[in-house]
Amino acid sequence: MFTAIVTDKDESGYRSELRELSEQDLPDGDVTVRVAYSTLNYKDGLAITGKGPVVRRFPMVPGIDLAGVVESSDHPSYSPGDRVVLNGWGVGETHWGGLAQLARLQGDWLVPLPDGLSEQQAMAIGTAGYTAMLCLMALERHGITPGDGDVLVTGANGGVGSFAISLLSRHGYSVIAATGRPEEGDYLRQLGATSILDRAELSEPGRPLAKERWVAAIDSLGSHTLANVCAGTRAEGAVAACGMAQGMDLPATVAPFILRGVSLLGIQQRHPALRHARHGLAATEPGARPRSPRGDQP
Ligand SMILES: NC(=O)c1ccc[n+]([C@@H]2O[C@H](COP(=O)([O-])OP(=O)(O)OC[C@H]3O[C@@H](n4cnc5c(N)ncnc54)[C@H](OP(=O)(O)O)[C@@H]3O)[C@@H](O)[C@H]2O)c1
Repeated sequence: MFTAIVTDKDESGYRSELRELSEQDLPDGDVTVRVAYSTLNYKDGLAITGKGPVVRRFPMVPGIDLAGVVESSDHPSYSPGDRVVLNGWGVGETHWGGLAQLARLQGDWLVPLPDGLSEQQAMAIGTAGYTAMLCLMALERHGITPGDGDVLVTGANGGVGSFAISLLSRHGYSVIAATGRPEEGDYLRQLGATSILDRAELSEPGRPLAKERWVAAIDSLGSHTLANVCAGTRAEGAVAACGMAQGMDLPATVAPFILRGVSLLGIQQRHPALRHARHGLAATEPGARPRSPRGDQP
């Protein structure tokens, strides 16, 4: 028997509750994991409360990520006792997720947990940190290096933004943090930001091609901010876009892409490079810590 949060929807309504389940209740999969930690992501909040259409199948165990220890496996890459981490792949949406003591998953979705990183640290980094790292890897695949110039991070105080600053800084990049909360400037500098930009400079409709101010950017806001970020990117630079905190609309012109050869990069966890990722997530040090998604504590 194990305990899980179960979200269900039927004639009596939408509800989430703690339930005792048995191993026979678990969905199909080739690896069973004893879950040590999961993050409480914003998406999990939507799934648990029903305030957003996150859950696609009922009943569902929410939890879009988890870290734990393999209990049994029919997958060639995993054996009992292996420590693993999982982010995404529809877990907690279409397949039972991490807010349970036990999970059955596809081994192809798992990543071995690197030595030196505990299950708790992996989930403190969570899917926000993982997303920030996907963005950094996308920029690096594009050929951006620390010597090329400043990298802008928008939504600087957010879950993705604060991890992006920390990761970029620890990889040697000079980081401009764009925020609507300048009073958090000291915190952002402790994370590794070298300068702070008022987000109001980017959030309103701007010019299609602006002064070149940064060589690359990690943007989690979308909308007018993403268009302005592209407009201020140096020739042949790149922008990794991973979110729409400001809204779904992207009033982009093609000017930066055509006239300056700026690349707008989406991120995708199915990229082959990630199959071999064994040390991509940087552990955080005591002191300034990136925020968990939407400020929640894991
Ligand atoms: N967290 C994840 O696991 C994850 C994974 C993949 C994609 N995403 C996407 O990335 C985006 C950000 O996620 P998050 O977890 O970082 O969210 P978050 O913790 O709520 O942070 C978003 C940040 O964006 C800024 N912001 C919020 N509303 C804004 C607005 N209307 N205009 C301009 N700036 C605004 C704020 O930063 P300042 O206070 O510094 O201005 C805020 O802290 C979302 O669209 C999310 O879906 C998140």
